[in-house]
Amino acid sequence: MVHSLADTDLQERLHIITGPSTGLNGIIAIHSTALGPAAGGCRFWHYGSSAEMTADAIRLARGMSFKNAMAGLPFGGGKAVLQRPPGDVDRAAVFRAFGDAIAALHGEYVTAEDVGTTLADMSVVRTRTRFEGLAARQGRAGGDPSSWTALGAFESMRAAARTFLGMELRGATVAVQGAGSVGTALCHLLARAGVHLVIADIDAARAAALAGKLGAKVVGVDDILSVDAQILAPCALGGVLNSRTIAALKAQLVCGAANNQLATEADGEALRDRGIVYCPDYIVNAGGIINVSAEYMGETTAQVQRRVHQIPNRLLSVLRRANERGRASSIVADELARQIIMAARRKAA
Ligand code: NAI
Repeated sequence: MVHSLADTDLQERLHIITGPSTGLNGIIAIHSTALGPAAGGCRFWHYGSSAEMTADAIRLARGMSFKNAMAGLPFGGGKAVLQRPPGDVDRAAVFRAFGDAIAALHGEYVTAEDVGTTLADMSVVRTRTRFEGLAARQGRAGGDPSSWTALGAFESMRAAARTFLGMELRGATVAVQGAGSVGTALCHLLARAGVHLVIADIDAARAAALAGKLGAKVVGVDDILSVDAQILAPCALGGVLNSRTIAALKAQLVCGAANNQLATEADGEALRDRGIVYCPDYIVNAGGIINVSAEYMGETTAQVQRRVHQIPNRLLSVLRRANERGRASSIVADELARQIIMAARRKAA
């Protein structure tokens, strides 16, 4: 069952999706469809309350809207969050019902894999609706998005270091937080570019294995954000840049792939006040969505490459504008993304 509510704060709609007999209980948040169908993954997670689940859906949908707009993609922003019930779950029943809910929206929302969902879940969704498309399929552009995300982050870092720190990456020290899919791919690119790497991961064995391969230094997870490095690349969790960690940062440039790096909007301003160049996360890490959406649009790998290579230029124009106006780059990025969305809305009206 789908109930739809309009919300003035959320620019478009919230769809409450339920299927009591299947265990489906969730929200599809549509932030914007001005640029195209609202695209964003489906999170299957245990939330403490409906309010918490709704707040997460709204925040994530807005993030997708801004990311897709700044990446120049023909997609709006949306996100589905489903409450994960305790105990055993009949996943096939949940994701069949989720697929039916998406089908009922007639293309307003396109889903994908996200935290807590798998490619297998998406295959179930695909049996009920064609509006599942942002997951890997053979024979087209697509597949694992991490290497594209890492490439966009690497090129962003190189461009920002050159323009704002007046330095090349060769010989620089870069601290990488998180040696997962993206962090590992980024470390390989950085090592090839002649960077001194310092890495940390809560999985100590993973950090040690990567360090062994690349000749990197490993530090503890509590130390990575304050190590002596010119550049910090957060590639683990969100919310790592807060008043405490920002005060201790030694890096002059922050450029990494993790989503939602700033704990609050004020933390973007705190970075500016300290003279630290912050590369807005959703601009830097768009390589992944560019890759998976290419698959949905039937684009080729060459087109993905072209779009990913455009990321640094977009980033530099945001950083320059922020610099000229003495404003936080995160706020300038949000404003630009909103302008792109509003312009598309006006054009469609
Ligand atoms: P992943 O799960 O493969 O890697 C995350 C790594 O961070 C893991 O090795 C984990 O042990 C480590 N980690 C967790 N907490 C940590 C901490 N406190 N200190 C140090 N290490 C910690 O995830 P993936 O795919 O590499 O993504 C990394 C970040 O980039 C996430 O925030 C994700 O949302 C974001 N992102 C990923 C994209 C992709 O293409 N995979 C696309 C856009 C954003």
